[in-house]
Amino acid sequence: MAKLQSLFTAIAISSLALQGIEAKIVSSVSELRQSYDFVVVGGGTAGNVVANRLTEDPGATVLIIEAGISNEGQEDIIVPFFAVQASPDTIWTWNYTTTPQAALNNRIVNYPRGRVLGGSSSINFMVYTRGPIDDFDRYAAFTGDEGWSWNSLQEFILKVEKLVPPADGHNTTGMIDPSIHGNNGNVDISIRGAEMSIDDMVVETTQQLAGEFPFNLDMNNGKPLGVGWVQSSIGDGKRSSSATGYLASQFLSRQNLDVIVETQVTKVFKTGIANGLPVIGGVEFAQSRSGPRYNVTARKEVILSAGAVNTPQILLLSGIGDNAALEKLGIETLVDSPDVGQKFIDHPLLSSQFNVTGTNTSDTVRQNATLFMELFEQYNTTGQGLFVDSPIDHIGWFRIPDNSTIFDNTTDPSAGPTAPHHELLFSNGFASFVGETPSEGHYLSISSSVVSPASRGSLTLNSTDPFDFPIIDPGFFSSPVDLAIMVESIKAARRFLTAPTWKDYIITPFGSGANLTTDADFEAFARANTGTIFHPAGTAAMAPKDAAPGVGVVNSDLTVRGVSGLRVVDASVFPFIPAAHPQSAVYVFGERASSLIKEKWGLSS
Ligand SMILES: Cc1cc2nc3c(=O)[nH]c(=O)nc-3n(C[C@H](O)[C@H](O)[C@H](O)COP(=O)(O)OP(=O)(O)OC[C@H]3O[C@@H](n4cnc5c(N)ncnc54)[C@H](O)[C@@H]3O)c2cc1C
Ligand SMILES: *[C@@H]1O[C@H](CO)[C@@H](O)[C@H](O)[C@H]1NC(C)=O
Ligand SMILES: *[C@@H]1O[C@H](CO)[C@@H](O)[C@H](O)[C@H]1NC(C)=O
Ligand SMILES: *[C@@H]1O[C@H](CO)[C@@H](O)[C@H](O)[C@H]1NC(C)=O
Ligand SMILES: *[C@@H]1O[C@H](CO)[C@@H](O)[C@H](O)[C@H]1NC(C)=O
Ligand SMILES: *[C@@H]1O[C@H](CO)[C@@H](O)[C@H](O)[C@H]1NC(C)=O
Ligand SMILES: *[C@@H]1O[C@H](CO)[C@@H](O)[C@H](O)[C@H]1NC(C)=O
Ligand SMILES: *[C@@H]1O[C@H](CO)[C@@H](O)[C@H](O)[C@H]1NC(C)=O
Ligand SMILES: *[C@@H]1O[C@H](CO)[C@@H](O)[C@H](O)[C@H]1NC(C)=O
Ligand SMILES: *[C@@H]1O[C@H](CO)[C@@H](O)[C@H](O)[C@H]1NC(C)=O
Ligand SMILES: *[C@@H]1O[C@H](CO)[C@@H](O)[C@H](O)[C@H]1NC(C)=O
Ligand SMILES: *[C@@H]1O[C@H](CO)[C@@H](O)[C@H](O)[C@H]1NC(C)=O
Repeated sequence: MAKLQSLFTAIAISSLALQGIEAKIVSSVSELRQSYDFVVVGGGTAGNVVANRLTEDPGATVLIIEAGISNEGQEDIIVPFFAVQASPDTIWTWNYTTTPQAALNNRIVNYPRGRVLGGSSSINFMVYTRGPIDDFDRYAAFTGDEGWSWNSLQEFILKVEKLVPPADGHNTTGMIDPSIHGNNGNVDISIRGAEMSIDDMVVETTQQLAGEFPFNLDMNNGKPLGVGWVQSSIGDGKRSSSATGYLASQFLSRQNLDVIVETQVTKVFKTGIANGLPVIGGVEFAQSRSGPRYNVTARKEVILSAGAVNTPQILLLSGIGDNAALEKLGIETLVDSPDVGQKFIDHPLLSSQFNVTGTNTSDTVRQNATLFMELFEQYNTTGQGLFVDSPIDHIGWFRIPDNSTIFDNTTDPSAGPTAPHHELLFSNGFASFVGETPSEGHYLSISSSVVSPASRGSLTLNSTDPFDFPIIDPGFFSSPVDLAIMVESIKAARRFLTAPTWKDYIITPFGSGANLTTDADFEAFARANTGTIFHPAGTAAMAPKDAAPGVGVVNSDLTVRGVSGLRVVDASVFPFIPAAHPQSAVYVFGERASSLIKEKWGLSS
């Protein structure tokens, strides 16, 4: 791993030199107008959707303010196989860590977020899952806004997607249902473009153990349960992000769109009063901790799309948060909104590795620099080979039986019968975000994630300096049901490998995963090895219909409660985390939010 890391760093530096500056992406404040109709804070996954859709009306001016650098010329984050090296601690990330997690033996977990145009969609693992019907129907029921239901969102779900062939052009019949996908959207979606040696064994298991692990032709049909081929935000062997999809040159050439990078919003502020509410028309920003502060004004709305960590940070810095906590820091309260930063939700992740007899695994590539360079060259010259994909092969989604004793004392945290409790991700090689990667050997990894968690954490300020990191506490396993489900998921991964097809392939569970027998053994293993799959949400959540003031942070149209002219559009607004890799839901929320904003201001499409 260390070898690969330094190799990768060398590559990253060489491609930096090639970085071209896109004409319309600026880093100089002097090139901005003094006011815009809309200011979008954060050029990330959701922010670029909003900026793109609003500037479809040539009469609406939009500014995107992004803390990170431009994605232009950043070749290394385009190569899908390099996704795992894109974070943490790179030029494209916020290098956050969590607080010591009590239920994880007080371990601190790396908590990177994307800090580059495209946000986390520019550094994520590209798994593209829409999520279950019941999650969206729960959003609709919880908020009383039918517009968030699965059926109502279909037009936006299709609007995001452009289904494209896999890089190797193979016949995908039996691997996906193309009839349910969008064909004209902004984000390329495809299934794997290079075979892996474990593919047949995974698929055979869905036949040999079809009762517990049935095959699912297309987990993006709203009913994800079962095992299927992973769909990814990849087109032509390249990462498709909100930057490549929604900020591409044909959109950047719009005269009404400005994008400033390497510029951090430090707070938003009141510019007037309307209908008794403070109007948030001011955005303050800076280019360094000690550098000058600048102001820009939004004539219509400020849209916070800084992600589930930074959006609540900006709200708190602006005096929108819990009155007592703000007072302690000496921040003047504009709106007493106790839920800002609270109800933090994330998906815990644990990778189980197994020693295997095979040698055709991604470990071979990571251990052999010559082979690595050969594959890189193949990728560069032909657009083919292992590097066209992320290291994830298949994924599966599962429910714990309703009569399980796990639910004796707890209500089932999932949204309903279509919603999984846990997920298994299959990788043809060693995968871990917690332990060291061994320098030799060959492995299969099955990562477990608790996808409908009951645990909640919090995001709070450590100081009033916007350049200080906030305090991130995902509260992993703070609800015991999540630990119990993680244990079930680890056991399910092992049952998967009891299918006859694996008989001569799997040797033994790797490392401390060997010899687990009692539930206490599995729990100890889970506490020692769980980290995150990087899906924070819920820190500026939608309020229930008719909620009292101070409950929830945004209304169901994503406007911030207690003020006027301010909306949140990003993963912060989910009141429950989607039981899915969330980028799809973030894009879909971005599309519907754009439609709501355009409707409110009478903008054209
Ligand atoms: C390592 C990793 C792997 C992941 N893998 C997957 C996956 O395989 N599939 C999947 O579906 N999801 C995955 N996710 C999660 C998914 O990418 C996120 O849920 C989603 O991208 C979040 O979108 P967002 O719009 O809420 O925030 P982001 O996309 O993170 O955008 C926020 C943007 O705001 C900018 N910003 C923040 N603060 C400021 C400020 N003060 N001023 C100006 N700009 C600011 C940031 O730099 C960033 O560009 C992964 C995430 C990570 C980090
Ligand atoms: C994250 O770490 C990388 C590598 O050390 C560094 O280049 C980058 O500036 C850091 N990001 C932030 C926001 O501090
Ligand atoms: C793909 O395979 C299916 C089933 O094997 C077959 O019916 C179909 O004709 C093939 N499509 C192409 C384009 O070859
Ligand atoms: C590894 O497996 C893939 C997929 O089955 C195959 O295309 C490739 O030729 C194999 N490589 C070796 C060295 O056997
Ligand atoms: C920004 O606006 C605030 C509030 O109106 C004002 O106090 C501050 O001086 C302004 N800063 C600059 C640099 O114009
Ligand atoms: C590394 O890969 C190269 C190129 O495929 C191959 O020739 C060489 O034998 C490999 N080295 C080892 C130690 O396996
Ligand atoms: C592949 O292309 C990238 C970007 O153009 C370059 O940095 C890298 O050196 C190339 N790698 C090989 C092995 O050709
Ligand atoms: C749950 O129901 C199944 C099927 O009816 C049964 O086989 C199993 O024993 C039950 N489990 C418990 C814990 O009651
Ligand atoms: C549920 O609570 C009862 C009573 O406190 C306890 O005896 C039982 O062990 C609990 N069951 C589970 C699965 O935690
Ligand atoms: C599994 O791999 C590790 C690392 O190479 C090795 O130390 C260990 O002996 C292997 N276990 C078995 C049973 O082969
Ligand atoms: C919070 O501030 C304290 C005191 O300056 C510092 O020691 C600590 O590392 C900070 N925490 C975070 C998460 O930055
Ligand atoms: C598992 O048990 C075997 C046999 O008792 C022992 O040799 C091995 O060291 C144990 N492994 C771990 C990780 O405890």
